[in-house]
Amino acid sequence: MRKTTLITGGAGYIGSHTALALINAGRHVLVLDNLCNSCRECIKRLEQLTLTRVDFIKGDIRDSRLLDDIFSRYDVEAVVHFASLKSVAESVSNPLDYYTNNVAGTLDLCRAMARNNVFKLVFSSSATVYGEPTRTPIAEDFGTGKPVNPYGRTKLMIEELLSDLCHSDPRWSIALLRYFNPIGAHESGMIGEDPTGRPNNLLPCLTQVAIGRIPELTVFGSDYPTVDGTCVRDYIHVVDLAIGHLKALLKLQQTSGIDVWNLGTGVGYSVLQIIHSFEDITGIAIPYRFAPRRPGDIAKCFADPGKAKRELGWTAQRDLRQMIIDAWRWQSCNPQGYQSSFKIAALSAVR
Ligand code: NAD
Ligand code: UFG
Repeated sequence: MRKTTLITGGAGYIGSHTALALINAGRHVLVLDNLCNSCRECIKRLEQLTLTRVDFIKGDIRDSRLLDDIFSRYDVEAVVHFASLKSVAESVSNPLDYYTNNVAGTLDLCRAMARNNVFKLVFSSSATVYGEPTRTPIAEDFGTGKPVNPYGRTKLMIEELLSDLCHSDPRWSIALLRYFNPIGAHESGMIGEDPTGRPNNLLPCLTQVAIGRIPELTVFGSDYPTVDGTCVRDYIHVVDLAIGHLKALLKLQQTSGIDVWNLGTGVGYSVLQIIHSFEDITGIAIPYRFAPRRPGDIAKCFADPGKAKRELGWTAQRDLRQMIIDAWRWQSCNPQGYQSSFKIAALSAVR
């Protein structure tokens, strides 16, 4: 049997880019996803991109019987765990779903891994666990803060339970990756971010305004103590992020215990800087209006990515221009996301 990396949530935005990066690096992957926020078309596109069959199982990480079956049929050497619900707003209105899916789901996954002697895990955490940082850039040794919503609290709880697990049993080897703001898409334009319903995050809102699906962009807050009054974030290209997972998997082969790495660029951009860069690069004017601050937003959040550079040999390679070009290519080739039949859009507007 070939050694396999199990990717939970691998049909989603970051998971699909990571599946591609792992396949391109010569690894065999198995994607497990219940498709609650993704679709089979993504797997088809991965197959077109890699010219291989991508092993995919539609199922839930909380289905213990299914997990045991997977571990008995595949020689799983590590799990990259993306499967999660991720809408901040939905987590406020429906916290039970978030604690059940994210926290209890991770417990079920870890139990199944332990039953089947699989002890290497990469977990998708988030900069949200830092809460409101007292200063920037944010380094891992700042410690965690108080996440301001149930989604963020699920991430912190999972980090803590994984830490307890590692300390209880030396066979575990776990990487916690704290992502900053993933944007962009694979350069082919064939896979990308496809939010269901109205998007919450800045980049998909912006590209949907540009393509005409949303009439105007709302900018939340204009009075933050930042360069221009709008919030500053560390946007990171999803392909760089995907490569970070490959590096983390390599690290797990050499170490045991639990460790944490920021995955960000170390550079912050304000909302207005993002809008104006998008306009400059694509030549498309973005209508926007200011609205009051969005509850829970912090003024500035960007990473100190030095630890990942020193210990994983990873740094982000793609700059903001590349992130915007690739995000726009994905949106314009797929105006309705994966519902669209893929068409090579003329990117003549990109300057
Ligand atoms: P996504 O929604 O595109 O991908 C998550 C995938 O998990 C989806 O395909 C969904 O169908 C699947 N899934 C959810 N619950 C499941 C379950 N119980 N069983 C099986 N599959 C399930 O999200 P994403 O943006 O790719 O995020 C991936 C991970 O990264 C998540 O854990 C998310 O919390 C984390 N993260 C994302 C961001 C971001 O801005 N996108 C930032 C920080 C952390
Ligand atoms: N924003 C707008 N208008 C929009 C959408 C967003 O002005 O329509 C602003 C927000 O107010 C914020 C900035 O754009 O100032 C970035 O917002 P996003 O929603 O894109 O990203 P967040 O930083 O709020 O959160 C993201 C993920 C979280 C993750 C966090 C840290 O959505 O899951 O990064 O990693 F926890």
